[in-house]
Amino acid sequence: MTARIIDGKALSATVRAEVAERVKTLRAQGIQPGLAVVLVGEDPASQVYVRNKAAACEQAGLHSRVIRMGEDTTEAELLDVVRQLNDDASIHGILVQLPLPGHMNTAKVIETIAAEKDVDGFHISNAGLLMTGKPLFRPCTPYGVMKMLESEQVAIWGAEAVVVGASNIVGKPMAMLLLAAGATVTLCNSKTRDLGKQTRRADILIVATGRPGMVTADMIKPGAVVIDVGINRLPDGGLVGDVEFEGAREVAGAITPVPGGVGPMTIAMLLVNTLEAAERSAAGISLQTQ
Ligand code: GUN
Repeated sequence: MTARIIDGKALSATVRAEVAERVKTLRAQGIQPGLAVVLVGEDPASQVYVRNKAAACEQAGLHSRVIRMGEDTTEAELLDVVRQLNDDASIHGILVQLPLPGHMNTAKVIETIAAEKDVDGFHISNAGLLMTGKPLFRPCTPYGVMKMLESEQVAIWGAEAVVVGASNIVGKPMAMLLLAAGATVTLCNSKTRDLGKQTRRADILIVATGRPGMVTADMIKPGAVVIDVGINRLPDGGLVGDVEFEGAREVAGAITPVPGGVGPMTIAMLLVNTLEAAERSAAGISLQTQ
């Protein structure tokens, strides 16, 4: 069997076109959704992500503000910028690009972002809302994965879903979203014994470890839907995921490519979250009233 390729680039274009339409409606009421992206330091991958996020905003009719701060910025300076953005009515979404330089307390920075502007969904209030089944913002990458599964009409209710990688950004929120959609979820981490034993049970396998080639064909149940969240740069400059694609595509029923799979969806869902933050703000809906 050769797997169906799940085209994240095409689905992302569809989602972004839908966002652009809703932005038009909001702009007709005099509101332009605005996203602020804060980048501290010179991390080359982060530079690319931030550029892509800003470009996607412009394309969909949102306004974006990129705030670049030097590697030697103090935590207090960064917190000041975040607080100013919290108070800025033209900004509906705030994203502080991670990772932050080592001298910063990442959790403290995230908790300083107003929860109703936390379009990443990383704030402890948003993590709690997701955990209790009442999400305000779904973290963009897992949200994009759910959108892909929905678009591919993958049956989630009652399915065995295995998530490899337990980060706050992807693995844990991914598990919560799958659970809420009715899957039986196994969340694996770097200490999981006999990973293949777990992954081979999966009807839906989500891999987010940041390790190229972590999942091989023999670890996949024939016909499974395989979602590869990894984006790893090889020494030759090429990009690969966490799944050994050529082998896996002969076993899986459907699989996402890297690049062109989950990556474009993350940005599309960031636009959705920013748009919805602006819509809620226009409707006067706060965290307390939602
Ligand atoms: N770094 C890698 N992924 C992300 C993300 O989704 N949001 C932020 N803020 N930083 C990241």
